[in-house]
Amino acid sequence: MDNFTFYSPSFFMFGKDTENRAGELVKRFGGSRVLIHYGGGSAVRSGLIGRVKKSLENEGVYYAELGGVRPNPRSGLVYEGISLCRKERIDFILAVGGGSAIDSSKAIAAGVLYDGDFWDFYSGKKIEKALPVGTILTIAAAGSEGSPDSVITREDGMFKRGAGSDALRPKFSILNPALTMTLPPYQTAAGITDIMAHLHERYLTNTKDVEVTDRLIEALLLTMIHEGPRVIADPENYEARANIMWAGMMAHNNAVGVGRSQDWNSHNIEHELSALYDCAHGAGLAVTMPAVFRYVYKHDVMRFAKLAVRVWGCQMDFDHPEETALAGIAALENFLRSIGMPLDFAGLGAKKEDIPKLVESLCYGDGRDGSISGFVTLNAEDCTKIYQMMV
Ligand code: NZQ
Ligand code: ZN
Repeated sequence: MDNFTFYSPSFFMFGKDTENRAGELVKRFGGSRVLIHYGGGSAVRSGLIGRVKKSLENEGVYYAELGGVRPNPRSGLVYEGISLCRKERIDFILAVGGGSAIDSSKAIAAGVLYDGDFWDFYSGKKIEKALPVGTILTIAAAGSEGSPDSVITREDGMFKRGAGSDALRPKFSILNPALTMTLPPYQTAAGITDIMAHLHERYLTNTKDVEVTDRLIEALLLTMIHEGPRVIADPENYEARANIMWAGMMAHNNAVGVGRSQDWNSHNIEHELSALYDCAHGAGLAVTMPAVFRYVYKHDVMRFAKLAVRVWGCQMDFDHPEETALAGIAALENFLRSIGMPLDFAGLGAKKEDIPKLVESLCYGDGRDGSISGFVTLNAEDCTKIYQMMV
């Protein structure tokens, strides 16, 4: 196991009706002038924003609001949010929604306290400080409610890039599984896929002897395999929603990723797809993961075989371990198909003729040096072949 530090000071309030405690938590974590930041309208239609405002009013907390965050959030609204926060002297940002609303909130939080262009942070500059952020989660997926990360798309060039800092970890996150019951099945499935991707990206490591985190990842994957189909069949199953929601947080606050190298090639390859085609991030990962895994599995056949046996229940073939590894990847693909995810370019509205553009942005865009690194280092030729496997 590698040396590591782990600092995750987010307070979680989990369960039914917990959104009504938002005002109390904002005050507890020092907020007095709040920006409520949310998405395209689902939280307004469900009545959630109304309940959140009432909770803030009950505690005498001032608020301004900024809706309109779109999936794969854009830089334009971040600039708008930064100006609004300065004008309104906001001291706390409350994100209501999914990864997109939360990531946009984190970007605003860092940008407000910075004199330069907030995009500097998404091009590698370290984030030292940010306004405090709280979240009320409405979709189990990105894990941003517990993570130090934020992913934003810059409209100029359509680069989708991430920034990370412990300063961006939410001060609190309210997780009420019942709020996720209004999700369309496709979004529920995309969320399940994203959670499973966060687990795979950590499982694919070059660090030896990381049994404790291996076992934790396997447990969370087994949970997703059990609960995923239950929630697709019965969207109002509170217990299945609850298990998925907590698994989504655990998968990505990095408790199961410490002390080991991680992959993230599937995410980087996918981010080009959701940047260009505006597809759901999880759906993009359903197409990306099997292709990446089939391309790289020979780098460590036994790691893929171990996952196949322990998680997918495959029989170990000691004479041909690569067959076991491939059976595990096929099992993942079948699972993703069974919950309604696309498995090829056509299912995302992606086009074969765009592959050179995707590879250019992935490997050279925004200052990159021609390759991406993770479990395996992939150059432009490798990435071209991987995108071709998705057609
Ligand atoms: O905008 P509204 O109207 O709210 O609709 C949203 C959106 O269309 C809808 N939705 C959310 N909760 C709902 C609901 N509809 C009905 N009922 C509800 N309860 O679902 C759609 C997707 O929402 P979004 O926030 O985009 O989903 P998700 O949580 O999957 O976030 C995706 C973004 O997170 C980034 C992705 O790249 C993508 O931009 N990621 C962020 C990470 C992080 N910060 O740590 C890590 C991830 O790997 C990921 O890259
Ligand atoms: Zn993700």
